[in-house]
Parts: sequence; structure tokens; C-alpha cells
Amino acid sequence: METYGCQMNFSDSQIVGSIMIDHDFELTENIADADLIFINTCSIREHAEQRIRARLREFKRYKKIKPDLRIGLLGCMAERLKEELLEQERIVDIIVGPDAYRDLPRLLNIAETGQKAVNVILSMDETYADINPVHTKGISSFISIMRGCENFCSYCVVPFTRGKERSRSPETIEQEARRLFDEGIREVTLLGQNVNSYQSEEGTGFPQLLEKVALVNPKLRVRFATSHPKDISDDLINMIDRYPNICKSIHLPVQSGSNRMLKLMNRKYTREWYLSRIETIKKIIPECAFSTDIITGFSSETEEDHLETLELMKQVGYDYAFMFKYSERPNTLAAKKYKDDIDEETKGRRLQEIIDLQQELSYQSNLKDIGKIFEVLVENVSKKSSDELSGRNSQNKVIVFPSQEFKPGDYVNVRIVSCTTATLRGQAIN
Ligand code: 5AD
Ligand code: SF4
Repeated sequence: METYGCQMNFSDSQIVGSIMIDHDFELTENIADADLIFINTCSIREHAEQRIRARLREFKRYKKIKPDLRIGLLGCMAERLKEELLEQERIVDIIVGPDAYRDLPRLLNIAETGQKAVNVILSMDETYADINPVHTKGISSFISIMRGCENFCSYCVVPFTRGKERSRSPETIEQEARRLFDEGIREVTLLGQNVNSYQSEEGTGFPQLLEKVALVNPKLRVRFATSHPKDISDDLINMIDRYPNICKSIHLPVQSGSNRMLKLMNRKYTREWYLSRIETIKKIIPECAFSTDIITGFSSETEEDHLETLELMKQVGYDYAFMFKYSERPNTLAAKKYKDDIDEETKGRRLQEIIDLQQELSYQSNLKDIGKIFEVLVENVSKKSSDELSGRNSQNKVIVFPSQEFKPGDYVNVRIVSCTTATLRGQAIN
């Protein structure tokens, strides 16, 4: 099982793993041992799809050695291209969209006879709520709480590949969190394409859901991703503030700092509105960290629009950002209505300016943390030295400190003594 793309895909792969294990399959780390390869795919940018096509070419040699090997292509690329993919990628035997994973065993039976098998039906209600995803190593886990997106940002393929929004019942989410805690998990990330538009059938909204999960145990950290700025309500901000185990870090994709771009992107907010939400969060939760997603070089973006993005980044002072060049996706609103008219060179240069600024902002933010004490949830032994542990604070910053007495899953108070752009370093003080 290979997974590309967003956290949701990694979470889905765990669901697929569970379905397959129930049907007497076993997961293997060694691709040469596999009788069946699943590749869970991403369509968000053209580059993501190209990587997957390159990977499929590499699978050819395994199929040559093992002619009975079956290859299944799962996820967003399956949903976007459907049967067309069977023509383009002859090596693929099974095509399965993100809402059809329960059908995998049947599709596999078809594929075993040498036929091609496809199920790309999107569902109004599938949430896989009753499936216990296979375990991850480590102390952190995802819990998928809602699926789909109906925002139709003009550049985005997700509403087409992931379908309608639907939310899991709060009881099954709470149970899953409890089970994970009992199994040693100390951090859960509630996942959804639009996590804060969560709305259960019986009326539980996202702030109430967060509270239920936070109450599972004060030693269970709760994070969530990804939020749409339009759904950051005061109730949600107050709820984050109320529970120390709800992490003080919000990923709030802005995409652009220019109102003209935001309108063309169909983001449904203005720069001023976004900044006022940030101000409110800063007022209620002064220690809150912010991260974002930015797209540069969207249709007709001028130098002035670009400068407005840089200006907004400075104003917020993001701790972290995911930054992308605009990639036109077939059939989206933008592909139909607007020209992809910013040349590669300009996109590249603007992206670099955005990255350089973010590096500086991350460094400045880390410098401010020197001397502070943070509670760190230990995740692992540092890659560089076995005498060092690494973990993260509530703000989601990576903190490395020397120690031989703590282990993953422990909470340790650490005083920060130095930093780089990416990491804080400190000393344990308890
Ligand atoms: N081109 C570039 N970036 C995109 N994203 C979504 N669609 C595109 C696209 N067509 C980015 C957005 C989103 C993140 C997950 O990917 O920033 O928040
Ligand atoms: Fe795409 Fe916008 Fe939905 Fe995010 S909110 S998945 S960017 S359409």
C-alpha cells in the first residue's frame, strides 16, 4: 500500500488496510513480496499526478517477474480520471474512488479473473464510521470525522473527487478516540477536507465535537485539519481556548492576500475579514500559532496582488506555510472561466519570494520562543543522535532536547535555548 497526498489519504489507506485484513490479506513493507499493490493517489496539482504515473511505470518490472500481481489505483486520481485511466495506464487492474473502498474485495475477485474492475461511485453518506483503521506506529493518529467538500474554490479539484460533505456521528468519533488513547496514542488529529463545517445529523457542530474528544482524557492532545476561514466561529475559538489539551495551533489556508484573487478563487471571504478573524484568535489565545496554504500565480495575478500576499503573511506572522504554484486542473471553474496566464518563470520567482519570506517569519517566530518553557509530547528519538528526543509543543513546533530518561508518549517541560528556522532546541526541566 503506497500513499500520496494529504493526511486524508493516509487516513483512508488505514481504512483500506483494515478492509483488506478482514478479507485475509496481510500488509507487507516489501514490494517484491506483494501479490497486490494499492496506490492511493492525489490529484491536487498536475505534478502530484505525474509522480504517480512515474511510480506506475516502476511497477512494470514487478509485474514482469510476477504476472499474477494485481495493481489497484485508489483515491482522487481514480475518481478524476475513472475508466480513462485504464486506457492510459495499462498496468492498472482496479480503479477505486474514495467512497468505494468497501467494494475492494469484490473488485479484486473480478481482477483475479484477468478482467479490469472499476468503482468510482461517490456516496452521500459513506463515512467508514464502523471500520477501525489499522494501527500506525508511534503516538499520533488521525481520526477522519467528515468527508467531501462543497466549497468549490475555483482552482480546486477536490469537490469533484471527494463529493458531498458528510459527517460521522460524534459517538463513533469519541469511541475511536477513547480506543486509541487506551492503546497508547497521545495525540489525535481530527481530519476532514473542511473539518470545521462538521455537522452531525443530530446537530453536533465542530466546537462541541472538539470538546467531546478533549474530554476523553486530558493527556490526549487534540488537533484538527483543515479549516476553512469562513467557519472559524467565536464558539470554536473559545473552545480551543477552554481546554489545554486542544492544541493552540490553527491551520487556516488564506491562499492569497489580494481581494481580487480571493474573489476569482471563490474563497468567500476578504483579506480584511480573514485578518479580523486572526486578530480575534490572537486576542483570545495569544499563544496560538498559525499556519497557512498559499497559491501563487493564479489566473491574472499581478505584481500588486503578489505584494498583497507578502504583506498579509507579514501581518499574520505565520509560523509555517505550505506554498504552491497554481496548477490548472481540468474541469474546475478556473479551468473553464479563467486563463492560466502567469508564465512559469514568474510563478517560480513569486513562489521563491513567498518561501524566503516564510523562512524569515518562521525564524523570527522561533527566536521569540527562546527562554520560554513548553510542554513537549515526546514523539521519537532524534534522527541525528540517539541521546536526543524530539517532540512537539502545543503550537506544533518541533523541539529537540537531550535526554535519556523519557520515552515517546511522555510529556516533558522543556526550556528553549536556541533555534533554527525549522527546530527549537531546549533542556528538560522536570
Ligand atoms: N494549484 C495549486 N495549489 C492548489 N491547491 C489546491 N488546488 C490547487 C491548484 N489547482 C492547494 C491549496 C490547498 C492545498 C491543499 O493545495 O493551497 O489549500
Ligand atoms: Fe479545495 Fe476549497 Fe474545498 Fe479546500 S475548501 S478542498 S481548497 S474546494
